Amino acid sequence: MRLKAVPATLAVAVLTLSLSATVCADDVQNLKITRPAYSNDLVINLQRTRQEPIQSIEPAKVTDPAKVELGKQLFFDPRLSRSGFISCNSCHNLSMGGSDNLVTSIGDRWRQGAIRVPTVFNASLNAAQSRDGRAQTLAEQTGGSIASPMEMNSTPQAAENMLNTIPGYRDQFKQVYQLDRIGIAQITDALAAFESTLVTPNSRFDQWLRGNDKAITANERAGYELFKIAGCITCHSGPAANSSGYQQIDVVRTYPVRNPVIGSAGATGDQNDRMMFKVPTLRNVELTYPYFHDGAAKTLPDAVQIMGQIQLGRNFTDDENVKIVAFLKTLTGNLPSFRLPQLPLSGDNTPRPNPFAPPASSASLLQQP
Ligand code: HEC
Ligand code: HEC
Repeated sequence: MRLKAVPATLAVAVLTLSLSATVCADDVQNLKITRPAYSNDLVINLQRTRQEPIQSIEPAKVTDPAKVELGKQLFFDPRLSRSGFISCNSCHNLSMGGSDNLVTSIGDRWRQGAIRVPTVFNASLNAAQSRDGRAQTLAEQTGGSIASPMEMNSTPQAAENMLNTIPGYRDQFKQVYQLDRIGIAQITDALAAFESTLVTPNSRFDQWLRGNDKAITANERAGYELFKIAGCITCHSGPAANSSGYQQIDVVRTYPVRNPVIGSAGATGDQNDRMMFKVPTLRNVELTYPYFHDGAAKTLPDAVQIMGQIQLGRNFTDDENVKIVAFLKTLTGNLPSFRLPQLPLSGDNTPRPNPFAPPASSASLLQQP
């Protein structure tokens, strides 16, 4: 299998919003109704929406609130893990930018993962999930997280069995999926539905895109122009600033390899995919330090400087770096805000957490991430 990387060109579909339809002289004479069909605000917004390679994020449209609520409970439920102690939120902490601010993740039995936890915010806008292309969809990635020995170290069967002993879940799954027995497909589907709501619209940059000139400062604007001129935009474009899919991270200079992770080659076995990683979203990037797949860049200024060097062969001056960083901080949007879910109680026969029990199969611990 060879991973398909979206070419890092500026293939930006420009949406032409023209309000001024051609009007011929006869029409003008016959034109009696002057009231526009649009409200004034809408007309102003449409006229002033900026056509830029980074587009604004739309708020999530919830079509099935019961499913989203169920997915939210599962996201916070440690009973999906072998130990009964680790939930999705342990690593994708929604109070910490959807990640954990650690260099690499910590999974079952305090195992050190090999890779920096990516944020779940705006993950629904990713071309594919996971840093190396292992998983395509949110549901697929979610199933992988439950079963990965480096993460929750459970199995699909164990997760199903566990939830089927919890009456509150059985009732909700029945209501949402009309099924008497909960299966892994429904578990991952509900989780994916919740994850799709974790978008962060209305950043200051988005307000600027929608025509509010004052939403970003002159300095931040200069940083954005530099981001485009320098060539960052070739890979970081689209609503989540990551629409170029998977790219090499040593375009101009070799990336100093610090851990066994070799990019997509790990998933495809194709040496051409070595050091090819998913282009991460830059939305809310100020929250998700440290940076890169190995967490090697401690701060945003460091990450910007290294990107300039390895991807574009460019050494930014301090002033340029400050401007680009200032622009990147305008991408922080409205973080999801909701009531913490109360999890359904365990039934009398629900297995109790036992984080210190030996793993069911020691072979699973030998698997690589
Ligand atoms: C022990 C820490 C840990 C736990 C627990 C965990 N994850 Fe992850 N998650 C990771 C790591 C590490 C990656 C990156 C894996 C990779 O790229 O190969 C990841 C990747 C993801 C991604 C892909 C994001 C992207 O941008 O590529 C999604 C979505 C995700 N996890 C959702 C979940 C859900 C839902 C759960 C709960 C069922 C969960 N995770 C539990 C550590 C964790
Ligand atoms: C050739 C494509 C490409 C270009 C050009 C590029 N990037 Fe990146 N960028 C990537 C990839 C791939 C990663 C992920 C690296 C990793 O995970 O190790 C990344 C990661 C980042 C990160 C870290 C995000 C995180 O959460 O870890 C920042 C910040 C960043 N880029 C900013 C920039 C800036 C600023 C520029 C211009 C100076 C730039 N990039 C140019 C592909 C590119």
